[in-house]
Order: sequence, then C-alpha cells, then structure tokens
Amino acid sequence: MKSDNQHPISTTREITEIYYDSAAADKFYFNIWGGEDIHIGIYDKTSDIPKASRQTINHMAALAPNLIKKSRVIDLGAGYGGAARYLASRYGCEVVCVNLSAVQNRTNQRLNVEQNLDDLIEVIHGSFEEITQADEVFDVVWSQDAILHSSNRKQVLSEAWRVLKPGGIMIFTDPMQTDDCPVDVLQSVYDRIHLDNLASFAFYRHTAMAHGFTECKHQDLTPNLEIHYSRILDEIKKNYPSACKQSSKDYIDQMIIGLRHWIDAAKAGYLAWGIITLQKPK
Ligand SMILES: C[S@@+](CC[C@H](N)C(=O)[O-])C[C@H]1O[C@@H](n2cnc3c(N)ncnc32)[C@H](O)[C@@H]1O
Repeated sequence: MKSDNQHPISTTREITEIYYDSAAADKFYFNIWGGEDIHIGIYDKTSDIPKASRQTINHMAALAPNLIKKSRVIDLGAGYGGAARYLASRYGCEVVCVNLSAVQNRTNQRLNVEQNLDDLIEVIHGSFEEITQADEVFDVVWSQDAILHSSNRKQVLSEAWRVLKPGGIMIFTDPMQTDDCPVDVLQSVYDRIHLDNLASFAFYRHTAMAHGFTECKHQDLTPNLEIHYSRILDEIKKNYPSACKQSSKDYIDQMIIGLRHWIDAAKAGYLAWGIITLQKPK
C-alpha cells in the first residue's frame, strides 16, 4: 500500500501497534495519561486530567446532532473505548471501535462487559486505513487524537467518506502542526511517538473538500495541548517512583523528555489542536 510519507503504511502500523501494545505503554496510558480516555482534554474550569478529557467528548458530542438512540457510530483509533461507552450509555448509539492495539481492545471489551454495554459496542482489531465495514452504514465517524498515527491520512478520510451514510458527520480531533510551521523544527516531536509528520487544519480542510465533504468547520482549541502535556508531566513527577515501577525508569525518563519537546513546540507556536467537523452531502 502506498503511503504519503517516508514509511510504508504497513511499517507505520507495525511500529504503532508495537508501541501501544507494550506493557510499559499500556500501564502508562491507562494509569497516568487519563484512564479510559487518552486524548487531549479541554481545561475549562478544571485542571483534572480525566475531567478535562471527558469535557472534550462532551464538547464534540454537542456538535454532532445525529448522535441519537440507535444511530450508528464508528470510532477510529478507539483506544480503551471511553468515548464509545459514553456515546452508548448517554445516547444509546451503536458503536463500532476500530483499533490497532489488541492490548487496549481487551481492556475495552472488559469494561464494556462490566458496564453492560457490550450489546451496543463492538470492538474490532484493525486499521482505520482499511475499514472492513460496508459502504454508507454509519451516521457518525468519530475519532480522537488517533489519525496523527497514520502515514496516509488522505486514505483515512477516504475510508471515513466511504462508510458514512449520505448526510453523515465526521467529527474528530488531532494533534497537528500549525499551517505555517517552519520545516525541520518538529523532528523531536515526531520522534516521541514515531511519526513522520503531522497534519494541519489546512491539510484537513483541503483533503476534506477534495473528497466532497461540505460543512468543513474547525474549532481551534490549541491552548489545551500545552496545558494537557504539562499536566501529564506534573502527574509523572508526582507519581515518579510508582510510574517507573509500572512502566520502567527508562520508559518514563524517555516520556518526560518527549513530553518536554511537545510542550516546547507548543510554546513556540508550532503545534495545533482542535475539533474538526465534516459532513457528507445528503
Ligand atoms: C492517543 S490514542 C487515542 C485513543 C482514543 N481515541 C482516546 O481518545 O482515548 C491513539 C490511538 O490510535 C490507535 N491507532 C493508531 N494507528 C491506528 C490505525 N492505523 N488504525 C486503528 N487505530 C490506530 C492506537 O491504537 C491508539 O489507541
């Protein structure tokens, strides 16, 4: 499969899968990053990571009027499935989680059973670059901070378009670089999670319009990125001995260095984050 970056898609996927499946990453993301939600939070009147992470989901959900009982949602890169359980329990949506990490998928399935939501949520081990579902079967394509991992983001938007019903909505967040970010300043940012590059609001707007999506809107919520990464760093420092015990000292020390690069790049104005909504015409 052709990629628009330096690594072929399969290599990028393998690297990402190994990254999230490792015991060190699993323990770190589940215990320190935010529990069942591992995305950037919206720090509106809170500095609590899980609360802020939930605010992001609330905020996104409020922008998708077709989230109603029995509406069909696919979550691309669903992680531990926090958003899927929220959408299933709050709205009665039927959610398909597509996620590359088998380790995360097991936790997702366990939590769905524990919360009696497994009849509404299906968890699929797979890639959002090659979704196995039929054409035009979902009302909402949802994704949080996952598409950055793709080495072919145009293909992810093509797949989203294909599986959306006419009139369906794609709503997603992604850590990005700014539209005017200078070249060659973000290598240390990419290296933390093995990326070749990042998208930008302009990239998503152009790609979405080229596909025929209408109603291409974005909410720029960039200040939350620096706050979120700084809060994660605070939590690591506060829980350093136990974090090292769970994930190894080497992993945590590398994570601290990586997070500092992201915080510095955010302070320099090179990074962006926000919510993008696209509609497939009726
Ligand atoms: C930062 S986590 C976000 C997880 C979840 N969306 C959340 O907000 O809690 C990124 C997720 O993207 C998933 N991912 C990365 N590449 C993927 C791919 N090609 N297909 C499906 N999932 C992928 C990873 O397994 C990981 O769970």
